[in-house]
Amino acid sequence: MPDSEKSSPRVHASSSVSSAPAGPITPATRAKLLGHRGAVIWLTGLSGSGKSTLAAALETELFRVGVLPVVVDGDVLRTGLSQGLGFSDADRKENIRRAAEAALLLAETGAVAITALISPFRDDRHHIAKRCRARGVPFAEVFINAPLAACEHRDPKGLYKKVRAGLIPSFTGIDSPYEAPLAPTLELHTDRESVAQSLAKLTALTLSLARPAGTARGAGGAES
Ligand code: ADX
Repeated sequence: MPDSEKSSPRVHASSSVSSAPAGPITPATRAKLLGHRGAVIWLTGLSGSGKSTLAAALETELFRVGVLPVVVDGDVLRTGLSQGLGFSDADRKENIRRAAEAALLLAETGAVAITALISPFRDDRHHIAKRCRARGVPFAEVFINAPLAACEHRDPKGLYKKVRAGLIPSFTGIDSPYEAPLAPTLELHTDRESVAQSLAKLTALTLSLARPAGTARGAGGAES
């Protein structure tokens, strides 16, 4: 037997395939496999409000309790899928659209997609909610609400300093608008509460969508 064959894994046609459902793979069969439903948890707020911090914390917590999470972060997206897009209204709109479609696809595979983008426009966020609803994917809009002064004081990336020095134009909250959610699913005041306090509320909301009441983990009950 050649060396390459000795080291390659063998696929046994009769083993794991036997438990596969007879019909098409649906959201319900995926939920049965994973023990929970997919969902989109859309974090919106100013730069420096705490979106990325909370997204990462939620990701860790979901993983810990056996829910498959994936973070779609604006800063990361702009180095890949949204590379080349800037911060004009039109570019932000396109950036949000791409993030939303990516999150939707991930959620449809059964993961909980946590997005961390400023997403400053109400219309865009409404559109995402509508897209999710139409596809039967649970969606939550979470307003990471820290006042501009608090975000500027934190200035984790030193960007506000540069903005005030006139080095960055069209900055959200300064000379580019941020349209705060009017009726978010959840609002977190990250200037007044600790990361742990915000995370507890965020986790409770997420689990209520991914594992609705009355559904048993791994028992396929997440179909409702
Ligand atoms: S969005 O408006 O299109 O949703 P996104 O969340 O992807 O924005 O990117 C925001 C991040 O880009 C900020 O956290 C900051 O690090 C960086 N950034 C650079 N220039 C700007 C700008 N003009 N306005 C806002 N954020 C900016």
